[in-house]
Amino acid sequence: MNITEVLHTIDELVKKKTGEHLDDLQKSIITGLCNKQTYDQIASEFGYKSANYIGDESRKLFEILSEELEEDINKSNFCWTIERVINSQLTNFGNTNINLCSSCELANHPLINNQETKVKYSHHDLTLAPQITKFYNRETELKKLNNYIFNQNLKLIFVLGLSGIGKTYFVKRFVDLNLDKFEVIIWKNFKFPLSLDLLISDLLNTCQQQPQETLQAKLKLLFDIFTQKRCLIILDNIENIFISGQLAGQYKQEYKDYQNFFTRIIETQHQSNIILISQEECAEMRCFDEDLSVINCLKLSGLNDVEFMKNMGLKDEESYLTLINLYEGNPFYFKSIAHSIKNIYDGHIAEFLTENKDNCGTGILPVNQINLPVITTQIQSNFQLLFDKLSPIEQKIILKLSKFDQPISREELKENLELSSTDFINGLQSLQQRYLVTKIKQDKIMFNLSPVFREYVKLNLLSIVKLSNI
Ligand SMILES: Nc1ncnc2c1ncn2[C@@H]1O[C@H](COP(=O)(O)OP(=O)(O)OP(=O)(O)O)[C@@H](O)[C@H]1O
Ligand SMILES: [Mg+2]
Repeated sequence: MNITEVLHTIDELVKKKTGEHLDDLQKSIITGLCNKQTYDQIASEFGYKSANYIGDESRKLFEILSEELEEDINKSNFCWTIERVINSQLTNFGNTNINLCSSCELANHPLINNQETKVKYSHHDLTLAPQITKFYNRETELKKLNNYIFNQNLKLIFVLGLSGIGKTYFVKRFVDLNLDKFEVIIWKNFKFPLSLDLLISDLLNTCQQQPQETLQAKLKLLFDIFTQKRCLIILDNIENIFISGQLAGQYKQEYKDYQNFFTRIIETQHQSNIILISQEECAEMRCFDEDLSVINCLKLSGLNDVEFMKNMGLKDEESYLTLINLYEGNPFYFKSIAHSIKNIYDGHIAEFLTENKDNCGTGILPVNQINLPVITTQIQSNFQLLFDKLSPIEQKIILKLSKFDQPISREELKENLELSSTDFINGLQSLQQRYLVTKIKQDKIMFNLSPVFREYVKLNLLSIVKLSNI
């Protein structure tokens, strides 16, 4: 809800009641109240002497609005009531809800001009979800998610994987394909996480519910809605509620109550589905067999789609697969390197690959050349963030792993690492929870560091060692 919409709506209501437009003082009060300011703050920000005066003028405004809307409006319910009025007006006029989904699929939906459809989607809020123009592949994963949601009716689903692997895109695609299956769809992005209290208030607000005082009351109402209506709630970038610099999946103090919220989603009877998207696994996301009737995880791996390359304007089709493998099927890495290949090599993947080879020879035997992933500045800054999130124990393990171009055994990894068994086990486990290290089952169990990440570590070895004090 933006302030212009609010001022416009209140101006119309006041004009209807008094015949006068809003004056500057009333506009300042409304702006202040929408920004959750006290009368004191409004007075000082807008240059009025007394908070009492602001209080008196506010009450006069509330009186006018209460009479016009035939309901009791006061300071504490002001913002929410106005938002509800705006939403219901828009719905009544056959317009879209102000929180309504902005996805291109919905905007182009053949039924969008139909009044019934607009009302049907009035509890959809996809404003924070990306718009998808081209989507490739992921058919198997889409089928799996469909099954989890529509056949098994799992309450909590985790979509997990390394940054850039396509988690957000994948879930948004699923949502776009299933808009009409849910009465409520809300997408929240945790790039800047919300406290649980604010999140629940926000969800209730989109569902046009009365504001509640306590978190308990809000949760009760939310779970009532989860029971009465089929809701789909997506919380993206959940990794941001976990602590940086420590082992994976530990909640920051201020977000600890999310743990109880997730447990309550699983334990309560309702007909709704919640999808959590994360780069990092926490304990709740580890799905044991006995949990699989209520929760499940979808771990995304690389996207092996040559059409994707073609559409990025890259040449040398015979080299597509080599490039895909080199960048581990990570679409974010492809897009970034494709941009450089187009600019520097005129789109010729073969030339790029030939020029970027590493000589692994002994000097006596013939040289065995392997392709090396080039780390673009975009990939570099993405990895820097990932590396900074690691605990010192994990950083030590990563540095050791980066010295090997092949997967290595636990014994080799542990050698000379100067970590206690507890730290070693927890660190290695944590790196797997972040999808940076994978376990490979050969004759023996081996551990492999993501090759692109390994290249980043090798290139930045000096600064990493200096900064991390390892
Ligand atoms: N299936 C797909 N089809 C087309 N493009 C894709 C697909 N998956 C991912 N992409 C492209 O790759 C980029 C990265 O994908 P996305 O944002 O979904 O990654 P992510 O796993 O959510 O990353 P992060 O954890 O950093 O949020 C997208 O901006 C999109 O351009
Ligand atoms: Mg994402």
